Amino acid sequence: MVNVGIIGFGIVGSGTAKILLKNKDVLRERVGFEINLRRIADLDIKRDRGIKIPEGVLTTDVNMIFNDPDIHIVVELMGGIRPAKDFILKAIQNRKHVVTANKALLATEGTDIFDAAREAGVEVGFEASVAGAIPIIKVMKEGLIANRIKAIYGIINGTSNYILTKMTDHNVEFLDALKEAQALGYAEADPTFDIEGIDTAHKLTILATLAYGIPLSFNSVYIEGISKISTQDISFASELGYKVKLLAITKEADGEIELRVHPTMLPKEYLIAKVDGPFNAIYVDGDATGSTLYYGRGAGSVPTGSAVVSDIADIARNIQKNAIGRVPTIPRIFRDIRIKKIDDVVSRYYFRFSALDKPGVLSKISGILGNYNISIASVIQKGRRLGEAVPLVVLSHEAKEKDMRQAIEEIDRLPVVMGKTVFIRVEGKEES
Ligand code: HSE
Repeated sequence: MVNVGIIGFGIVGSGTAKILLKNKDVLRERVGFEINLRRIADLDIKRDRGIKIPEGVLTTDVNMIFNDPDIHIVVELMGGIRPAKDFILKAIQNRKHVVTANKALLATEGTDIFDAAREAGVEVGFEASVAGAIPIIKVMKEGLIANRIKAIYGIINGTSNYILTKMTDHNVEFLDALKEAQALGYAEADPTFDIEGIDTAHKLTILATLAYGIPLSFNSVYIEGISKISTQDISFASELGYKVKLLAITKEADGEIELRVHPTMLPKEYLIAKVDGPFNAIYVDGDATGSTLYYGRGAGSVPTGSAVVSDIADIARNIQKNAIGRVPTIPRIFRDIRIKKIDDVVSRYYFRFSALDKPGVLSKISGILGNYNISIASVIQKGRRLGEAVPLVVLSHEAKEKDMRQAIEEIDRLPVVMGKTVFIRVEGKEES
């Protein structure tokens, strides 16, 4: 028998407990012995979570987990940086294996945790930290081990995807959609993490370390969220055949690694563009596999609990077989490769200029774009209001980010341009 202690009886904690209790028999059959939920610690053990927890399991004293010599695996599901980090380090010090869903902590301070675990000879499972129910960590560490990873494109924040879907399909206002996502338990305690791309960047940081063997590089991720996306741009994108998604992108290009999170226009017919609501999807391009795609629920109590329990089962098996560390937590040696600066990233762009509707305006704008090596793929002008500002939508061919920003700065200073230009990066094959 392997004993588990959970710290944090919130959304994921209760989902995990539910699975451990409800699917105890299935787990026993599959791993060959019992995985026992021995303790759950939380400051609030009174609130009804809709599960019947056996007598004596709940406690408000976290030390009952750390000091229990019979607990083999400590599951941290409280979130946040502190005291979660101290609790994890304490568990490791006490030679307990750790499972966590804490992407923010791993992405920003994970090195300390992984180093401590390596030294203590214990495992750290973090399947639930990225894309909830989708077993993408196992895919990256084991399933795709034979591949050099060419690129990863991920929709890995359920809240943002839920909001964008509501805005696209039902014209729901941004804040109303966010409130719904919060009520459904998808959003982070601080929802700016979701809508400003930070949560996506945390998860991308973890994926990129596994894909490219680079140190956890959260501070090098370029991050832009969805809070400035309007239904107007979503509907222009749609007219042009695209959907707007908050994408996490990492790829190896020109001997450097790209790490970026931003709203992205994707051709509607792409499978990943069809991923809606709170669902997540991760597209991984391996040099041997070619395109692969993983899809599922990226947030929520029981779906995320499923990932937590899979880590518990893995570690429990390793304990039984005396095979701790069989699959390394993260790469043992990091590659020395640079992260590409966003200025050097090459992309296609959607621009929405607010330009006066009068002759010669387009040529002024396109002249500046041309000066910065940005060539136009298509243009649409919406509406006709002579002498007034109208949206002028332009799709560009590939251009360098730095050139794009300088061009926009210059264009926005034109007297015929009335507001700040909106731009969205465009991914996917260019039509010929
Ligand atoms: N807030 C996260 C999301 C939860 O919306 O995807 C899962 O990590």
